Amino acid sequence: MFYREIDNELRLELTMPKHAQSLFEIIDRNRDFFGERFPWVDETKEVEDTLEYIKSRLELFAKDKTLHLTIVYKEQVVGVLDFMNLNLSNKRTEIAYWLDEAHNGKGIMTRAVRELVNIGFNEYGLERVAICCDVTNPSSCNVAERLGFTKEGVLRKYYLVSGVLGDYNLYSVLKDEWKNKK
Ligand SMILES: CC(C)(COP(=O)(O)OP(=O)(O)OC[C@H]1O[C@@H](n2cnc3c(N)ncnc32)[C@H](O)[C@@H]1OP(=O)(O)O)[C@@H](O)C(=O)NCCC(=O)NCCS
Repeated sequence: MFYREIDNELRLELTMPKHAQSLFEIIDRNRDFFGERFPWVDETKEVEDTLEYIKSRLELFAKDKTLHLTIVYKEQVVGVLDFMNLNLSNKRTEIAYWLDEAHNGKGIMTRAVRELVNIGFNEYGLERVAICCDVTNPSSCNVAERLGFTKEGVLRKYYLVSGVLGDYNLYSVLKDEWKNKK
């Protein structure tokens, strides 16, 4: 099992088939919470759907196109985060994430994203990490802002959810700006 320990209560594990059951259970009990943000939630009907998704991430991981990690808090699986659209040629990526609603408000995602940014700059040789958040999703935007990302602008009519194209804030941080923020 490949993992990265953040502190004595939090670690990031490479998402593997063994995580499928726990991750599916989180998706299943957060349908209302996630559903308004993620259209794929409705398509995730059984644990096999989550398993197939994990396998697809592992294939992309092998091609250096993603790094998908499962967040374990106090020995319990609570969420995920990943490098989306990892582009090593241009030394950039975007980070996406979700967290069980019952574990919101503890700083878990901020700590997890900080570690993933460190991995991006220190181990993948990236120069730029971005985060895109729905302008109506303050919890998500706060993660980027808490970590000192710069808001570059608004991506207008960027992402379709429930038939409506929402505007997204585009945040980024560059390697030179990132000083292992704690
Ligand atoms: C977006 C999401 C991950 C944010 O979760 P979150 O719990 O608010 O974020 P964190 O885990 O970083 O916790 C921050 C909160 O914990 C508090 N906190 C406690 N200890 C903390 C610590 N050590 N460090 C930072 N924050 C801490 C912060 O004050 C903040 O609380 P507040 O929102 O009341 O001010 C979560 O709401 C989610 O998964 N939403 C649905 C999916 C989604 O929108 N994903 C993003 C798509 S772009």
